[in-house]
Amino acid sequence: MAITDKIDIINKINRLKIEKKAVILAHCYQNIEIDEVADFVGDSLGLSRQAAETDATIIVFAGVYFMAETAKILSPDKKVLLPRLESGCLMADMINAEELRAFKAQYPGAPVVCYVNSTAEVKAESDICCTSANAVQVVESLPDKRILFVPDRGLGAYVASQLPDKEIICFSGYCPTHMRIRPEEIIEKKEKFPEAEVLVHPECHTAVINLADFTGSTTGIIKRVKESSADTFIIATEKGVIERLQRDYPEKMFILASEKAICENMKWTRLEDILLSLETEQFEISVDKAIAEKALISIDRMLNV
Ligand code: 13P
Ligand code: SF4
Repeated sequence: MAITDKIDIINKINRLKIEKKAVILAHCYQNIEIDEVADFVGDSLGLSRQAAETDATIIVFAGVYFMAETAKILSPDKKVLLPRLESGCLMADMINAEELRAFKAQYPGAPVVCYVNSTAEVKAESDICCTSANAVQVVESLPDKRILFVPDRGLGAYVASQLPDKEIICFSGYCPTHMRIRPEEIIEKKEKFPEAEVLVHPECHTAVINLADFTGSTTGIIKRVKESSADTFIIATEKGVIERLQRDYPEKMFILASEKAICENMKWTRLEDILLSLETEQFEISVDKAIAEKALISIDRMLNV
């Protein structure tokens, strides 16, 4: 796209944002151009908090479906728009309410912690939500020893490693983007850059997490870079994070653990889609009232931990 066309689109978006009292929330895995119009860019926890607190009339969610759905649950009176309706999350779709009920039936009485990367109906069937930023604290906050964790077995295994006194039973879901990162790729890069700090997202395979100097959510990784005295980092998470780190810390060196760590669903949204979404107010996300009310309890419990 020619730079003048891009500036024109950005100007139109900014005008419409004021006119319609809209706010644009973007996940760090989005195309970096979205940052030019976003009011907030962050990880799932930060985005949930923003969605709960904003006084805008319209929320445009530059992210995937479950994020827009979560925003709608938190702000039922606001119009929540997802510019590209096909932006799903493969992990969230790995469990539905019926499968969760069957899972719970195998372990009567055990509470369910549900990763926010899940559908509204799965949140409604769960006791409390978590994100990758607060999963350990959320599980630790529960008095029970035995806990069911859905849908991400990667994050669940990481939480279990941090809380040896808990018995965490994980569902079999996973994030294909993070699971594509192989430990050999990190070992190879570490041999080339022995001084580099290895920063890993907890959705990764345990063998990758075991190579980490630091494990944390998207925002956790960004914060670690800010605070660390190291000048070279091997980053094991989605490519969007490294692009933002390169932009914000040009004096430091960042090496992407795997070129395959790209979430295709996060990349559908372009500036043109945001503009169209604001112009036409599409695609509006709705959640069944009874499901939304139950899911809100799980999300609110998390936000109060
Ligand atoms: P966080 O935003 O919690 O780091 O999760 C990463 C992710 O996969 C979002 O879909
Ligand atoms: Fe879902 Fe993984 Fe993509 Fe996040 S990175 S939206 S968990 S598939």
